[in-house]
Amino acid sequence: MIEGKITRISGPIVYAEGLDGCGLYDVVDVGEKKLIGEIIRQNKGNATIQVYEEDTGMHIGEKVVCTERPLSLRLGPGIVGNIYDGIQRPLKAMYEKSGGFLLPGERTQPIDEEKIWHFDALENIKEGSSIYPGMVLGTVVETQSITEKIMVSPLIRGRTLKSFKGSGDYTVNDVIAVTELDEEIQLAQYWPVRQPRPYAKKLGVTEPLITGQRVIDVFFPLSKGGTAAIPGGFGTGKTMTQHAIAKWCDADLIVYIGCGERGNEMTEVLTEFPELIDPRTGRSIMERTILIANTSNMPVAAREVSLYSGITLAEYFRDMGMHVAIMADSTSRWAEALRELSGRMEEMPAEEGFPAYLPTRLASFYERAGRVINFEGQEGSVSIIGAVSPPGGDFSEPVTQHTKRFIRCFWALDRELANARHYPAIGWIDSYSEYADEVRAWWESHNPLWSELRQKALDILKTENRLQQIVRLIGPDALPNADRLLLRVADMIKNGFLQQNAFDDIDKYCSSEKQILILELILAYYDRAIACVKAGAPLSQVVSLPVCDEIVRIRMVYKNEELDKIQEVRTRMDSQLGEIERAFKN
Ligand SMILES: Nc1ncnc2c1ncn2[C@@H]1O[C@H](COP(=O)(O)OP(=O)(O)OP(=O)(O)O)[C@@H](O)[C@H]1O
Ligand SMILES: [Mg+2]
Repeated sequence: MIEGKITRISGPIVYAEGLDGCGLYDVVDVGEKKLIGEIIRQNKGNATIQVYEEDTGMHIGEKVVCTERPLSLRLGPGIVGNIYDGIQRPLKAMYEKSGGFLLPGERTQPIDEEKIWHFDALENIKEGSSIYPGMVLGTVVETQSITEKIMVSPLIRGRTLKSFKGSGDYTVNDVIAVTELDEEIQLAQYWPVRQPRPYAKKLGVTEPLITGQRVIDVFFPLSKGGTAAIPGGFGTGKTMTQHAIAKWCDADLIVYIGCGERGNEMTEVLTEFPELIDPRTGRSIMERTILIANTSNMPVAAREVSLYSGITLAEYFRDMGMHVAIMADSTSRWAEALRELSGRMEEMPAEEGFPAYLPTRLASFYERAGRVINFEGQEGSVSIIGAVSPPGGDFSEPVTQHTKRFIRCFWALDRELANARHYPAIGWIDSYSEYADEVRAWWESHNPLWSELRQKALDILKTENRLQQIVRLIGPDALPNADRLLLRVADMIKNGFLQQNAFDDIDKYCSSEKQILILELILAYYDRAIACVKAGAPLSQVVSLPVCDEIVRIRMVYKNEELDKIQEVRTRMDSQLGEIERAFKN
């Protein structure tokens, strides 16, 4: 056992001597209270340690004991539906144990070690079977929505099983198998948080993550295995957008990281999610959600590591062949933790005080996203959606700029839209998705209209943006009828398609079929209306039909199951405009 002594304390950064032989990133027990720390610099036994718990009251001279293993997560049945801090301490269990106070140095196992799980072994596995990293030995039904696969850890070196217990009831610590190298395999395994879990092959990200949010799915799609950023000034809707995606997207599992934001936002998640029903399974959303909470009042070092803890959890489930989506709110608060720690270590600051390694650290988070083939030949993915909170809403600041290098989907929240209560306030001019080309083939086989409608609608909004500049100079009346019609249709797209209120019972989740039907209807109206205007009908008659208002409200009136009703509106619109066109043609 290597033991050293504290020589200096600077907030969450502690310096110690006598730690020769400890590795970089080894976990240490710091001080009499045995707080969890991690060696982040090592110089001949003089170590710099990042302490993950509140260390007020610690003294110079207290001992530091090295555990000689890296900071790791415990991965196994019992994780799903849990709420953890940045270093996987189970907040609910700790809260119950300590009567409402999270005490430093308190040790509670990340997953319940007493709970008995039923393990269903795969039939062909027995004593003497050959094994490989990532091989599935059997399954445990964890929640009604999630069946966990019990896999051979990639850290296991043995290649055959000396013994195998088979199906039965076990705790996460019971040994279910032993390899020829005497390594024990349990239902749960450890994995170092800072190390990406291996996979067999990386795939292209050609399948969209359907979020049920029209502006995302149609305009700026995210792929399964892709990366997106939601930058936005104070109160523009970052958290709401992430909540909406967490609730409704078609991932198998959600990892939600509340990182340095207000505590009451986490409370909202905790009270709201258990009551929400997953549209695909009909079961509570919490049954497929893991929460990591490091709110603004919790230690900054744990905030720094929380992103890596989140992605490690996600990779573990990806390796079982699941599609996992991570929300991180907010990566700016995470970067501030990095800045504070760096400042404490008296490192040379780069832009706006952030350390020079900010981009490297951002990369080591976002680059762990992807769609892969696991060692069992199945597909799984991790998609990352990071909120960015630029001070003053200024996107030129370092965190937004560096994040842009690593993400391919940018949902820029627009202050003006938010002020006008146009939600989600994702601006169509500044936002982009580099996945649009990649998911096109998928859409072709699911709904061939997607590509064409999307392009047309985006073009209309671009033209509108240009026309608005003219309108500002000379007023709308100077524009030709065709342009004024375009302005009207652009409004219909904005109000009837892009707006989507997260609090509206019908509109909060829009199926992709409904999304396409609404946009198709608006654009069909445009085509018909142009024909009328060309035939000589007055613009005012064409744009003041009651059906126009009906179209704009359709998203909130008809449910996902009532697509036939939308078709009826379409028929009515066709006949009304058809009549006008005929009347003027003759
Ligand atoms: N999709 C939406 N539907 C309805 N209301 C919304 C939507 N998005 C945002 N809002 C409104 O905007 C408010 C602020 O949103 P939110 O808390 O998500 O902003 P934020 O960007 O996370 O703010 P902060 O910078 O404080 O973290 C919400 O309380 C809600 O009233
Ligand atoms: Mg927020």
